[in-house]
Amino acid sequence: MSQVSETSARHVAIIMDGNGRWAKRRALPRAMGHKRGVEAVRTLVRSLQGTGVECLTLYAFSSENWKRPEEEVSDLMNLMRNFIRSDLDEFVENGVRLKIVGDWRALAPDIVEMLEDALERTANGSHTVAVALNYGSQQEIAAAARAAAAEGEITPEAIERHLFTADLPPVDLLIRTSGEVRLSNFLLWQMAYAEMLFVDTLWPDFTPEHLQAALDDFATRERRFGGR
Ligand code: IPE
Ligand code: IPE
Ligand code: MG
Repeated sequence: MSQVSETSARHVAIIMDGNGRWAKRRALPRAMGHKRGVEAVRTLVRSLQGTGVECLTLYAFSSENWKRPEEEVSDLMNLMRNFIRSDLDEFVENGVRLKIVGDWRALAPDIVEMLEDALERTANGSHTVAVALNYGSQQEIAAAARAAAAEGEITPEAIERHLFTADLPPVDLLIRTSGEVRLSNFLLWQMAYAEMLFVDTLWPDFTPEHLQAALDDFATRERRFGGR
């Protein structure tokens, strides 16, 4: 059991990558990889208590993922619908505060409605699970800078107040699965001083034990924030 201390990561962000390759390796349809990816999310969210993680931000659908074939986009949207339907009660029972980051109001009206209901029902949760949906960090920063300018000053603090994540601590630890070493337009501002961990595990194979190993690795890092 790891202890919650100063070296604990309060905010962990994950780029959940590799569903397609997971399916391909098994000669299964991509949709099956995404389905197993959702199961990995469910198991991970259940395991959060006791880890010291106050906020887990999950990259589920990027603003660039619209470039994928229509059928895959529609599979992903249906998985989202099913996930909310099947897991919302459990989120409420387990004290999860759901948060959505990204331009989620541009999604299909029925999904927007389901998400609004889910946000309302989980509003009093004690730990946050933030899901990035139709999210692009450059778009987020541009919009925040526009809003800051409209108020009269473009400072880092003013921009920060207009980010989707304004109410969250900065990202302490970023994990990307599947061996890709890039950020793919995720939380660029929020990760200014994040520690990063890139693992080869494909997302559907990522377990709470992998998360614990990542947290243990994080605890050994020396963070300097520019000081010495
Ligand atoms: C991540 O898995 C899920 C989403 C981006 C929605 P991918 O679908 O990107 O899987 P790979 O990278 O093709 O293996
Ligand atoms: C990033 O994965 C987005 C999500 C995990 C939702 P991608 O698979 O879309 O990223 P690239 O295209 O390989 O950079
Ligand atoms: Mg990918």
